[in-house]
Amino acid sequence: MATARVEDGDRAERPDAGNRRQAVPFDPDHFARTSQSTDHLERFQTIYRTNFWAGPTSRSGAGAGADQTMSLRAELPKLFRRWAIGSLLDLPCGDGSWMAAVDLEGVDYLGADLVPELVDLNRARRDGRRYQQLDLVTSALPSVDLIFCRDCLVHFSAADICAAVDNVRRAGIRYLLTTTFPSEPSHVDIVTGDWRPLNLERAPFDFPPPVDRIVEGCTEAGGLFPDKSLGLWRVADLPKPVAASAERTPPSTLRGT
Ligand SMILES: C[S@@+](CC[C@H](N)C(=O)[O-])C[C@H]1O[C@@H](n2cnc3c(N)ncnc32)[C@H](O)[C@@H]1O
Repeated sequence: MATARVEDGDRAERPDAGNRRQAVPFDPDHFARTSQSTDHLERFQTIYRTNFWAGPTSRSGAGAGADQTMSLRAELPKLFRRWAIGSLLDLPCGDGSWMAAVDLEGVDYLGADLVPELVDLNRARRDGRRYQQLDLVTSALPSVDLIFCRDCLVHFSAADICAAVDNVRRAGIRYLLTTTFPSEPSHVDIVTGDWRPLNLERAPFDFPPPVDRIVEGCTEAGGLFPDKSLGLWRVADLPKPVAASAERTPPSTLRGT
C-alpha cells in the first residue's frame, strides 16, 4: 500500500494522493484475492449482506450518505430540466435512500439494481416509484431519455464497463450520467466487485469531454476525491467499446420481476 507520512510527528499515515484506491474503508482488491466464483450477483449480494463498503448510514457505502449527496440532491433536478429529461433509469439505485429525497416532478422514474434484496427494500418504501431487478451488463434495458449510473462502473472490470456501455447503446438510451474522476491520470484494471477511481476520458475508454457535469463535493477520505463528478454524455458520442474482445463474464441469473 502506497502511503505518505503525515508530517505532524505522530507517525500517522494516510494514503498517497497518487494511489487513491487505498483510501477507501474496505479492501479494494478483496475479490481478486479471495473469490473462487465469477458470479457477480453473488459478489454484490455479499457486499450488501455484510455491509462490506462500511457505509455508516447506507449499505451502498459512504458515498450514499446524506452528507455526500447534498449537492446532488440540489443539482440533479436542474440537470434533468436543462436536458429535458422525461424518463430516467436509475441503474443501479442501491438502497435508494438519498434518491428518495430528490424532486423528480415531471420525470418518469424507474429504479433498478442487480441485488434483489435492494429492490425489495426500495419497493417496501411505497414511495410511488417503480423498482425492478436489472443487470446493467446483460439485461434488456428500457429505452429511456437518461440512464443514471452512479458509483457503479468504478466496481467493474474494463471488459464489463465496455459491455455495459454497449448494452446502454443497444437500448437506444440518449444520455448516460455516470461517475468519473477527471483528475485520475490512468487506470488499473480490476475484477468486477473491487474498486478503483475511474477517469472515463482516459484509455481504454476515451470518452470525449462530457456535455455537462456535476461536481459532487465529495469529502470522503479527508478530501482526497474533490474531482469526483457525474459526467453527462450523449450515448451517440461514445466510442465503440475497445475491450469488446476481452473475456466477458457470464450473465447473472435474475429472478422474474
Ligand atoms: C456503490 S452502490 C451505488 C448505488 C447508487 N447508485 C448510489 O449512488 O447510492 C453500487 C450498486 O451497484 C449494484 N450493481 C453492481 N453490479 C450491478 C449490475 N451488473 N447491474 C445492476 N446493478 C449492479 C450493486 O448491487 C450496488 O447496489
